[in-house]
Amino acid sequence: MTNAAHLALPAAIRSLQPSDYTGVLIEALRAAPQRIAGATVVEIGSGSGVVLAALASLGAGSLCGVDIEGEAVRAGAELLEELGHGAISSFRHGNLWEPVRGQRFDLVVANLPHFPMTHGKVPGRRPSWSSGGADGRRLLDPFLEEVARHLAPGGRAVVTHNGFVGLDRSREMLRAQGLGLKVLRTTLVHLSQEKIELMTGSVLEAEEGRTILRYGPYAFGKMHVVEIDAAGNAD
Ligand SMILES: C[S@@+](CC[C@H](N)C(=O)[O-])C[C@H]1O[C@@H](n2cnc3c(N)ncnc32)[C@H](O)[C@@H]1O
Repeated sequence: MTNAAHLALPAAIRSLQPSDYTGVLIEALRAAPQRIAGATVVEIGSGSGVVLAALASLGAGSLCGVDIEGEAVRAGAELLEELGHGAISSFRHGNLWEPVRGQRFDLVVANLPHFPMTHGKVPGRRPSWSSGGADGRRLLDPFLEEVARHLAPGGRAVVTHNGFVGLDRSREMLRAQGLGLKVLRTTLVHLSQEKIELMTGSVLEAEEGRTILRYGPYAFGKMHVVEIDAAGNAD
């Protein structure tokens, strides 16, 4: 696509464009293609559908995308259709696990909104894209509480997890359900000045120098891709 064509994308679709988190999540999934081939997959918060498209290209057996935004559901379905994966894909409109109640999957993927903020909006994004409430866990906690009920035997979840929303708390929540959490990779994501200004003050204060690093006017946050599995494998 040329730059001009990219700029011509409707604003609704532009706001669903993949982020740095999306790229790192895809790369973590690509590292073990043998675990994708034939797998039944669900993505909670599928956005543009590009993570599912990457999984389709790795040979996933079936793909289901769930999103709270109707526009995302349409965009995801169109993308998978356009790439020739329409026959093995379905998209559902709804909140977190609700549209897939009672269903289990070999692979669950999620890059949920979990930036600690209560007001405002990240420029260029919908309010539903980033905000995770004051501590960043408004969606992460209900997602983790139900993940065990949606894993097929031997199944796993691969999820993005900001360092500044409490990896230990997630580990504890999962351990209580007999699930293990393993960090697959860690990277630094740039936090723009606008984003830093939106971050809950107490989180920023507690995490500065720990999971939030500053070099002059530039700030980065630690971000992990974690794997959750029913075998209880943990770091
Ligand atoms: C950070 S974006 C990630 C999108 C895509 N997975 C990616 O990596 O590019 C989070 C997505 O979660 C969706 N979302 C927000 N709240 C949700 C909810 N309660 N249930 C399902 N999806 C939700 C948003 O609409 C958005 O598409």
